[in-house]
Amino acid sequence: MENELKILEEEFLKDCQQACGAKDAEGLRVKYLGRKAQINQFFSKIPTLEPTQRGAYGRELNILKQKMSAIIEKKLNERQNLEESLDLTYPGIKPQRGSRHVLTTVTETICDIFQKQGFIVAQGGEIEDEWHNFTALNFPTDHPSRDAFDTFYLNLDQDKKNGRYLLRCHTSPSQIRVMCQNKPPMAVISPGRVYRPDEVDATHSFMFHQVEGFAISENINFAHLKGVLLDFAKGFFAKDARLRFRPHFFPFTEPSAEVDVSCFMCNGKKKETKCSVCKDKGWIEVLGCGMIHPNVLDTCNIDSQKYQGFAFGLGVERMAMLKYGITDIRLFYENDLRFLEQFNQL
Ligand code: DAH
Repeated sequence: MENELKILEEEFLKDCQQACGAKDAEGLRVKYLGRKAQINQFFSKIPTLEPTQRGAYGRELNILKQKMSAIIEKKLNERQNLEESLDLTYPGIKPQRGSRHVLTTVTETICDIFQKQGFIVAQGGEIEDEWHNFTALNFPTDHPSRDAFDTFYLNLDQDKKNGRYLLRCHTSPSQIRVMCQNKPPMAVISPGRVYRPDEVDATHSFMFHQVEGFAISENINFAHLKGVLLDFAKGFFAKDARLRFRPHFFPFTEPSAEVDVSCFMCNGKKKETKCSVCKDKGWIEVLGCGMIHPNVLDTCNIDSQKYQGFAFGLGVERMAMLKYGITDIRLFYENDLRFLEQFNQL
């Protein structure tokens, strides 16, 4: 008799191992504890036993029944808990989607406008030498920006011909790289990072981005430069944008100018409250430009008697800050998603 209880128990334990899910647990309950369960037949056999055996057999049966119901109960609970915490109708967790940084998008917007005008994109390198960064661009040897205080020099053995290595302080050396390797006509833009050991504040950073542009051909004049930049301003800022050219000095262009765009916010019209973009000046300074200095052309083996060119350089952060009303340059670099996500749909 004890044997039959053992067989029942073994069968039960084997079934338990295979059972999974609420349905199986409920099946176990019906099979081993339900009305037609085998254990009930064993119980009903008790009166037919020798009186001396009844007590012990009954006890064995009760122990087995309790054991089985405890296991089944536990299985049913486990399932229930799991199913409660696993709501299959609950919306899934959306994986975070990456997106392009606002500076990448703005750089691309700028490049797109110039590419539509026929400019091609050439990437320069962030490590330059003194010759490409300064000398070939007609910077005098004693120019203050050549100073270690104003430029990041690298601790590398210097190039015998081209001088010390440094982190470029502007994208203008890209002009030299392209001019030395190509023959005119050419129209090129070159975006990238530049470095200056500036104190970091709301409008300065030791690293920022520029887009350089230049075109060289026969009979290129200042009017072409104005047309190209006006088309850019209309595309980037506002359809009715106007430009103002103020005389300036850059060693690599002659004549040189700084360019202001008419304020796209107030269009120069005074309102009751001060314009937050142009501070009521009506104009915003946006870039530097000029006609490429003949010395620069000649240095790159382009005949300055035959060819002329114009060049311009603009700051990407500045463009983005103006366009989107961003008041602190540091926001671009801090990787704060609350800031960056605002530009995901651009
Ligand atoms: N390289 C100048 C700067 O970083 C910007 C610039 C001015 C570039 C005039 C040009 C230019 O090509 O013609 O301040």
